[in-house]
Amino acid sequence: MATLAPPGPRPSPLNLLIYRPARDPLAFFTNLARQYGDIVAYKMGGEQIMFVNGPQHIRDILVTHNRLFIKGRGLQRSKRLLGEGLLTSEGATHLRQRRLMQPAFHRDRIAAYGDTMVGYADRLQQGWRDGTTYDIAHEMMRLTLAIAGKTLFDVDVESQAADVRAAMNAVMESFWLSMLPFADVLERLPVPQLRRAKAARAKLDAIIYGMIAERRAEADSSPGPPRAQPRGDLLSMLLAAQDETSGAMMSDQQVRDEAMTILLAGHETTANALMWTWYLVSTAPDVEARLHEEVDRVLQGRPPGVSDIGALPYVERVVTEAMRLYPPAWLIGRRALQDYALGDYVAPARSIMVMSPYVLHRDARYFANPERFDPDRWTPEFKAALPPFAYFPFGGGPRRCIGDSFAWMELVLVVATIARRWSLALEPGHPVETQPVVTLRAKHGMRMKVTRRTATA
Ligand code: HEM
Repeated sequence: MATLAPPGPRPSPLNLLIYRPARDPLAFFTNLARQYGDIVAYKMGGEQIMFVNGPQHIRDILVTHNRLFIKGRGLQRSKRLLGEGLLTSEGATHLRQRRLMQPAFHRDRIAAYGDTMVGYADRLQQGWRDGTTYDIAHEMMRLTLAIAGKTLFDVDVESQAADVRAAMNAVMESFWLSMLPFADVLERLPVPQLRRAKAARAKLDAIIYGMIAERRAEADSSPGPPRAQPRGDLLSMLLAAQDETSGAMMSDQQVRDEAMTILLAGHETTANALMWTWYLVSTAPDVEARLHEEVDRVLQGRPPGVSDIGALPYVERVVTEAMRLYPPAWLIGRRALQDYALGDYVAPARSIMVMSPYVLHRDARYFANPERFDPDRWTPEFKAALPPFAYFPFGGGPRRCIGDSFAWMELVLVVATIARRWSLALEPGHPVETQPVVTLRAKHGMRMKVTRRTATA
């Protein structure tokens, strides 16, 4: 018999009225789970929140019963930047866009981007000086933005397109600002950062629309049906995408929204995964030694390519384990459209279901010695025995990350390219602290000294 009230903390009167993010949200959610179990209820800012911490329940919400949920109101603000792109749209719009875009993210299609990923990682490491300390958070962000610029728009944001880079940087940096409550109002006030952000957004819009127009014109002037000429980048694929049954294609605005979405969803998440990987590897000399051994043995002094990925299982384990401990998307949320039976309880309609890869990935029921960075735990047997959704850095169901293959490829190739040449060590005394904004960043960046590996130099 279902009862209505799962266990949970008694909220303070202030929290009942307003939304106050916990000072340390990761500790807050971890403690809730450890104290109250797989389903925790609490109220905040007038919302009923259900923190769901069991893999089976999470699977039900994201996959089996996904139709009973929407991503919800929190998206409205990000819609100002992302429009009706995949990340922010709902229902029929989302379904149509997802169907149109899925083929562009197919493993075979994105394999063509492998050389770009390696090329840019190689250029980054060539610019490093032996013995110098860099903010690796910044370096990885620069790298993944450059890779996004090239694979999405076919522009080299590092060397050719200073205006594209400046606008992209400003928009990406300001995205989090635009998520602030009252950002609409603030934007109209003379708050310089927000004003700049608005101007940068307008500029990036103009650039993207310009590229779209240029490509449509190229397509019109070429013989054959009026289709965009695929240049091989994602923008061309979006322009050429056509629904198999209805024949519908995307409008300029839809293409713009999707391009902006991919840019935003794709580069910061991947940069954070890379940054945490370098940090974790620097804490475990034995892991670093094996990483170097595998890369040296498999690549024999040449840069990696897509076809090497299968031969680099240790690199993949290292990245898998890094995303266990520091999943870039640390929180996933859904809003219930109707009363929803959750185990022995009922989540009332409009409840917000909160699920945290960060918390579940550190649950000792699924990961022995969960705080330990141990890539070796990822044996095929362990993977096979792990309950689905005990590890879910890319979410699941119809809204699973569309860029997951893209991200895996980028992570493995970038790590292999850099590990070939360099050993990274945390600057002594540098504080390592998580900063869970929309993605899981490092609060103070990640200052690391790079040392050229002599064996392969
Ligand atoms: C390590 C890197 C990445 C992580 C951890 C990550 C994680 C996620 C997660 C958890 C979701 C689902 C969110 C939810 O269910 O509410 C998501 C959605 C999405 N991701 Fe990623 N992502 C990564 C890289 C990328 C890349 C490289 C791209 C594009 C090239 C991308 C594009 C998207 C898009 C468009 C969505 C929305 C999908 C939909 O709702 O249909 N992501 N991502």
